[in-house]
Amino acid sequence: MRHAGAGVRRGGRQTGRQGQLREDLYSKIQSFSFANIDRFSTASLITRITTDVTNVQNAYQMCLRMIVRAPMLLVSILMTAWIDGSISLIFVGVAVVLGIVVAIAMVKVAAPFRTMFRKYDDLNLVVQENLTAIRVVKSFVREAREIDKMHQATGEVYRYSVKAEKILTFLTPCATFAMFVSNILILLVGSNMAVGNLPGNVTAADLQTLVIYSMQILTGVLSVAMCINFISMSKGSMERICEVLAEQPTITAPADPVTCVRDGSVDFCHVSFAYSARSSEPVLRDIDLHIDSGEMIGIIGATGSGKSSLVSLIPRLYDVSGGSVRVGGVNVQDYDLDVLRGSVAMVLQKNELFSGSIAENLRWGNENATMEQLRFAARQACAEEFIDGLPGGFDYDLGQGGVNVSGGQKQRLCIARALLRQPKVLIFDDSTFAVDTRTDAQIRQALRKYAPDTTKIIIAQRVASVQDADRIILLDKGRITDVGSHEELLRTSEIYRNLYESQVSGKEEG
Ligand SMILES: Nc1ncnc2c1ncn2[C@@H]1O[C@H](COP(=O)(O)OP(=O)(O)OP(=O)(O)O)[C@@H](O)[C@H]1O
Ligand SMILES: [Mg+2]
Repeated sequence: MRHAGAGVRRGGRQTGRQGQLREDLYSKIQSFSFANIDRFSTASLITRITTDVTNVQNAYQMCLRMIVRAPMLLVSILMTAWIDGSISLIFVGVAVVLGIVVAIAMVKVAAPFRTMFRKYDDLNLVVQENLTAIRVVKSFVREAREIDKMHQATGEVYRYSVKAEKILTFLTPCATFAMFVSNILILLVGSNMAVGNLPGNVTAADLQTLVIYSMQILTGVLSVAMCINFISMSKGSMERICEVLAEQPTITAPADPVTCVRDGSVDFCHVSFAYSARSSEPVLRDIDLHIDSGEMIGIIGATGSGKSSLVSLIPRLYDVSGGSVRVGGVNVQDYDLDVLRGSVAMVLQKNELFSGSIAENLRWGNENATMEQLRFAARQACAEEFIDGLPGGFDYDLGQGGVNVSGGQKQRLCIARALLRQPKVLIFDDSTFAVDTRTDAQIRQALRKYAPDTTKIIIAQRVASVQDADRIILLDKGRITDVGSHEELLRTSEIYRNLYESQVSGKEEG
């Protein structure tokens, strides 16, 4: 079976132009918003940038070879026409029949190839999920089930690949058959011309020459058939690549963007938000809230109440569905995206580090940070001590995705990385759940002391993580139900009081 990726070896070196396609695709994906990525899925984007580009490369290389050989084919056809025009008509007739067969084959393979590439997306999803969550797979002893899933996914790719290839393998014998038919016709007509049974100028010597030309044309036609084979396969891939290239990023900066964030004040003006225009239930409804620059805000609420969704609107990771979000008094949609996101640092709920040293990872926050600045940020995030305990300290290599540090250590590194940005708004999305309560309090104290002008928004599950905030916001099913300081909420909000008491007494929340 020839599968879509088999051409990697055959394809050989990439030319600059082919490499360019992959880079263009990659650059385009970098401009995508979360909504764009949700639409394609990560696994599908990986197939498009690897397998699909390789298919197009193979077709491109085959066509290049064909273009080099084409003049030879043309010369042979012209020479037969020069010997006798009516004999060359045999080639024309055969070519027309062959062209029809090829066209039918191309139409028939389009659907199975398209499905095959979708199955490739599923296959990549299985591999990607398995490898990124290999620890979970092992701890739940799911290896056999995962192998089963993989078997099914490869089986589906195989099924559609064979379906398409069955049609395509039919092409080469067809081309050979057509050319042998034309050879027989040339010999039949030519020999009758040579002996005078048919009108024409063909001699016995011409007949031999015609057979040689006919063999050359046969070889040429076979290459064309091969070339069509590759083009049919790459057509589906090209469509999938074009889909990505034609996708318009849903979040773009205006033509004349604001390039300076005045301060860290944040305003939510009657904001509603849904992840997809099709979803009937909005995730956030009528959020109206003003946060002063430098304020420390705590956000608390049940799981799925919309806390992460709310804060993701501040650096414009998603656009609001209704109302507006303002940072520094300016609508986030009026800012240059780099400027806005440079001023709003977010420590995400799901922390991600990258392969490389600790220092390299921290410098994502500020690539020109000095060693002193790295140390200072690490100290504020209560990470300095454990970093110094690692072999090599800040030069300690973090392995892929930061696998060689603990969950709590990873969180502290992510906090330090965000602090290095010296942002105007700092958002912690449940970023300290893996650190102990004392360290959690130390980090907040450091924030108050060293970043007094930075607006701090802290999402937490533990009341203890937000109780010293200037104001605490209680979110329930996408709505703000209560706002106030810890003491105020204890007096006025029954939900908050229950939550606090259940956590203080260690009882389960009701
Ligand atoms: N990318 C997404 N696409 C579609 N729906 C989403 C997406 N992310 C979250 N949701 C939905 O939005 C709602 C709010 O999710 P959100 O992540 O904001 O909750 P949360 O309050 O942060 O919860 P948690 O405390 O568990 O982190 C949920 O019902 C969730 O199913
Ligand atoms: Mg969340």
